[in-house]
Amino acid sequence: MRDVNTMSVLITGGGSGIGEATARQFAARGARVTISGRRQEKIDAVARSLGPACRAIAGDITNQHHREAMLQAAVEHGGGLDALINCAGNMYRQAVGEYTDEFLREAFETNVIAPMMLSSMAVTELAKRQGAITFIGSIHTRRAYPGATPYATTKAAVEGLTRVMAAELGRRQIRVNCILPGAVSTEINLRAGLFTAEQSAARYAAMAGDHALGRIGSSDEVGEAIVFLAQAEWITGASLEVDGGLGLGISNN
Ligand SMILES: NC(=O)c1ccc[n+]([C@@H]2O[C@H](COP(=O)([O-])OP(=O)(O)OC[C@H]3O[C@@H](n4cnc5c(N)ncnc54)[C@H](OP(=O)(O)O)[C@@H]3O)[C@@H](O)[C@H]2O)c1
Repeated sequence: MRDVNTMSVLITGGGSGIGEATARQFAARGARVTISGRRQEKIDAVARSLGPACRAIAGDITNQHHREAMLQAAVEHGGGLDALINCAGNMYRQAVGEYTDEFLREAFETNVIAPMMLSSMAVTELAKRQGAITFIGSIHTRRAYPGATPYATTKAAVEGLTRVMAAELGRRQIRVNCILPGAVSTEINLRAGLFTAEQSAARYAAMAGDHALGRIGSSDEVGEAIVFLAQAEWITGASLEVDGGLGLGISNN
């Protein structure tokens, strides 16, 4: 297992939810962490609480100049790059029959093309340190939620590209893996304007019984798995379900 305390890590979407928890987990183990996100105040608050170990750089992952700046900031802050964690993403729900071209393009721009581009741009630095790329898929590729085809399709793409990227980058000693979280209470649905906070809480509560372990997960529990994959030197091309057994599709009938 690689030591975390010598790592330089870039985490997109590090201002909230799973990305924030992952940043805290890496920093607690001594890593140099760079986080990004569009809302300056969110990433600044996380960076302030983590101290000098963490640098925040605001930007939109769909913008090439912003991606370059994120990468450069991480390399400067950490003296190189050991791990790229592609946490930034949005929920995209639209009913079949109501698809719009613009909506689907935005979904793929943000959830697929942007992390692919950033990963491609990071290869030179990662190769110098036998580094790792982690994508965040979703349990939506294991369980079908009506209304969520745009989101599920972007996550299926991420899971698929993980395998091919791992095959392509293996000889350069870069590992590529994907985490498939189950239900974790974050602001993702609120930011998408889909539900109120109360509705969101009620939905998560209703989903508890669908998990083998009888409860939804926490961002910290997903962050721990992300840290593990950054360390695990002989794991590549994997999709790791971190879902409390939601993907098992258990039925009590
Ligand atoms: N929560 C779950 O149950 C769950 C389950 C499976 C998978 N996931 C995945 O886990 C990842 C993290 O989500 P989360 O649940 O932790 O939600 P979250 O708290 O909303 O985090 C997503 C982050 O991505 C950032 N982001 C979104 N679009 C961006 C853009 N264009 N450029 C830069 N940053 C952007 C957001 O910050 P700004 O708005 O400030 O940019 C936000 O901080 C996502 O990929 C999500 O699909 C979540």
